Amino acid sequence: NNIPVIAVDGPSGVGKGTLCQALANHLNWHLLDSGAIYRVLALSALQQNIALDDTKQLATLALGLPLTFDSNSDDVKVLLDGMDVSRDIRTEETGGAASKVASINEVRVALLQRQRDFRQLPGLVADGRDMGTVVFTDAPVKIFLDASAQSRAERRMKQLQDKQIHAKFGEILQEITARDERDRNRAVAPLKPAVDALIIDTTSLSIQDVFNQSIMYIKEKL
Ligand code: C5P
Repeated sequence: NNIPVIAVDGPSGVGKGTLCQALANHLNWHLLDSGAIYRVLALSALQQNIALDDTKQLATLALGLPLTFDSNSDDVKVLLDGMDVSRDIRTEETGGAASKVASINEVRVALLQRQRDFRQLPGLVADGRDMGTVVFTDAPVKIFLDASAQSRAERRMKQLQDKQIHAKFGEILQEITARDERDRNRAVAPLKPAVDALIIDTTSLSIQDVFNQSIMYIKEKL
């Protein structure tokens, strides 16, 4: 596949979403928010009272998930069965549930093609945990963002406040740490940098710094 992909992976709250959106805007490329897919799946499971460890039902749900991204407006809207769930999927509760369903191999396999379908001209910026290691192993550019749990919790807190979603710092930090642990230690597609990824520690970097470093690297690679 000759269509270029920039694979961006890293733990939650590290600034992947912000970076990927900025890169996609700058390059005028497509954007895949793979985390949103796992979040919508989790939300749908919660709504239908499907247990978060019910492999068979979750895999079936994943295969037929009526999910669409609507990028007509300024920020991308996420629709489940035509309903706007953009807000509902951003709570830490849904994030935690997403990381539970995401630990199931059958679920990940069921969602593979759906993610790969986003690879369209002129190119794709892909945001997730396994973009460089599993979904787009042949991506010409792979970036892995990292940062301390404390600073990621601070950023997530601010993000939620901006969206006027109520949150407590201690709980956010705890949830982020628990979710990371699960994402890093799971048997399938664990969160880790691809061997050929550029690793950027964003703990003491501004969004602009991270963007500039990434653009420099992308120019070098493409
Ligand atoms: O990135 P975001 O926080 O929206 O992702 C929610 C959860 O979905 C993550 O904690 C992770 O468990 C899962 N996920 C994943 N693989 C991806 C993207 C997200 O396992 N590519």
